[in-house]
Amino acid sequence: MTMLSEERIILTGATGGIGKELARQLLNQGCKLGLVGRSMEKLEQLFAHLNAELNVDTNRVILICVDITNKTGRQMIIDKMEKNFYGYDLLINAAGIMDFSSFMNQTDERIEAVFETNVIAPMLLCKKVLPYMISQKKGHIVNIGSIFGSIGFAWFTSYSSSKFALRGFSQALRRELAETCVKVSYIAPRAVKTSLNSSAVYNMAKQVKMNMDQPELVATWIVDSIIKDHKEKYLGFPESLFVRINAILPGIVDIATRSQNKIAQKFIE
Ligand SMILES: NC(=O)c1ccc[n+]([C@@H]2O[C@H](COP(=O)([O-])OP(=O)(O)OC[C@H]3O[C@@H](n4cnc5c(N)ncnc54)[C@H](OP(=O)(O)O)[C@@H]3O)[C@@H](O)[C@H]2O)c1
Repeated sequence: MTMLSEERIILTGATGGIGKELARQLLNQGCKLGLVGRSMEKLEQLFAHLNAELNVDTNRVILICVDITNKTGRQMIIDKMEKNFYGYDLLINAAGIMDFSSFMNQTDERIEAVFETNVIAPMLLCKKVLPYMISQKKGHIVNIGSIFGSIGFAWFTSYSSSKFALRGFSQALRRELAETCVKVSYIAPRAVKTSLNSSAVYNMAKQVKMNMDQPELVATWIVDSIIKDHKEKYLGFPESLFVRINAILPGIVDIATRSQNKIAQKFIE
């Protein structure tokens, strides 16, 4: 069990739909929090909102306005955490981007951006925090994946494959760090009602009856998984069962998803 009140947490994607809720719930647990986002305006709005609701001690929160795909930006996260909180215990990689389109029609630059944001930046952030976490004999890395990181979804090919990579990275790193005091978790929500999903995705989801969770609930599940030290967690049923079926019988899933993929194609951007 992790006592979040004692943690100094880096949260990327803090200004996103899930991130905002995570920030609120983590602060409620009494932790110190570095909120990472690309827009200072959004970060300040988030802080004002959190402060109005929770009357947060300003010494417990810092706003870190950086692009995580940028090397200097990642270093700034470390520097600000060290300066304000003398280090960090928990890194939550929640920033992410996604496209709903034909793979062929995505630009090369966009495919690169999806992997830079969803895979390379979290990996390099992990690399940055590990020496300190190992030396203080305490640390936890939490990578926010997706059900799409275990079931390859048509029309989300770049995003889906980036989350497969993040899952593989989390598993390998966890095994590599097994003899240290640093834990690595991979937590995979199913679809969530946030602006990551465009109106085209919402329309498609409605048509194919895709389950979509509220960000508040997903944040609660994520915080609960962190407290309970879950190594790998798939949120939502029956999606968590489909993950197992796809791992054992992907050919069956190829057939089962064919008609759904045809419907979804009508909505792609
Ligand atoms: N929503 C879903 O259906 C769903 C389902 C499963 C998993 N997830 C995963 O959950 C996580 C959070 O998703 P969400 O729904 O909260 O997304 P969201 O509302 O679109 O928020 C995305 C967040 O990532 C940040 N971000 C994106 N690129 C960045 C960059 N280069 N540098 C720094 N920050 C960057 C955004 O910052 P700005 O405010 O500056 O843009 C924002 O805070 C993602 O990893 C996503 O893949 C989401």
